[in-house]
Amino acid sequence: MKLSKRITGLTGGGSDGWDLFIKARGMIDAGQAVTELTIGEHDISTDQSILDAMHRSASNGHTGYAMVPGTDALRDAVAARLTARTGVPTSRDNVLITPGGQSALFASHHAVCDEGDVALYCDPYYATYPGTLRGVGAVPRSIACLPENAFQPSYDDIAAKADGAKSLLVNTPNNPTGVVYSRDTVEGIARACQEYDLWCISDEVYDTQIWDGTHISPRTIDGMEARTLVIGSMSKSHAMTGSRVGWIAGPTEAIEHLINLATHTTYGVPGYIQDAATFALAQGLALEEKVGAPFRRRRALGQAILAKQNVVGLVPSSGAMYMMLDIRATGLSGDDFADKLLEAHHIAVMPGESFGASAAGHVRVAMTVEDSAFEVALQTLVDFAKEIRP
Ligand SMILES: Cc1ncc(COP(=O)(O)O)c(C=O)c1O
Repeated sequence: MKLSKRITGLTGGGSDGWDLFIKARGMIDAGQAVTELTIGEHDISTDQSILDAMHRSASNGHTGYAMVPGTDALRDAVAARLTARTGVPTSRDNVLITPGGQSALFASHHAVCDEGDVALYCDPYYATYPGTLRGVGAVPRSIACLPENAFQPSYDDIAAKADGAKSLLVNTPNNPTGVVYSRDTVEGIARACQEYDLWCISDEVYDTQIWDGTHISPRTIDGMEARTLVIGSMSKSHAMTGSRVGWIAGPTEAIEHLINLATHTTYGVPGYIQDAATFALAQGLALEEKVGAPFRRRRALGQAILAKQNVVGLVPSSGAMYMMLDIRATGLSGDDFADKLLEAHHIAVMPGESFGASAAGHVRVAMTVEDSAFEVALQTLVDFAKEIRP
């Protein structure tokens, strides 16, 4: 039987850029020791106090259907967090709780793009972006964010691609680059969205992982609140990747329609997960800092190693759980470098090319193994780059 074009065309065909990851997993399955610095998954589990809250809630009977928009308590907690951290007054009616950031990305584009509408996104990009846009029937159009511009999109970069587009997807702090968008960048995004009448879908799932500088949400810029949907998630901030809980924050009219979409798709998020998330948010910065601390530490360790040499460059990254390394001096592509490093030293990093053409000649290192293993892996990577440099 024939399946829909929408589903068969979702991945766009060809390689999805995860060959290296699959090869590393194959080696591990075959019993080989591999230092895995590939995916964005913490090396700690969800905090015991959050698990206790989850257990309490489930044991107390919160195991039936939950309210589709989210529990009042969690919507209020997310709204209060956004109000406090961004200064934009946000209420429960501006918030829909979703099963993670990924489904929020899908639902948001579904809400703003009709079939065939052009949806803009920045390259390098989080792996699911183009498929998410195709999945709602939109036509993905990329904006190249080049290494020489610190991977930040300028107003001109966006304007050059914006004619006829419906939406712009941005991500700060950024996966894969770790770059935190500057005020100039965010203002350029806002100007382009207003001049070209674009919705801004702002993926802020790493908003608690800032090692330098400040996170600026496009929603805070004048005129942007009415055209911005913010994507949030507990996955990265609270090491709750498996709990699947996130949100969309935006104008009430959009949220009302998104609640209808949720009624016809996910039917909400389990009540005990929401109660655990409410508990986690109530712990405030202390718990977020506990979850983020290992990445902050490892970034400093990595910077110290990279400062002693000049073959491998560090992208000026200030957030998220990744370091993006420029390995162009080796003369290899990111794909070849990552493959040879895996073969020679059993260290798995993601080729930049997996995240789009703009990250060619780079590799992304997830800071997701304990400190000493991370230091050894990074030093080995640097020594390897020196060895193979022409
Ligand atoms: C930039 C970005 N957005 C969204 C997500 C999705 O996160 P989740 O669905 O776990 O909330 C991820 C996960 O790695 C990500 O890196």
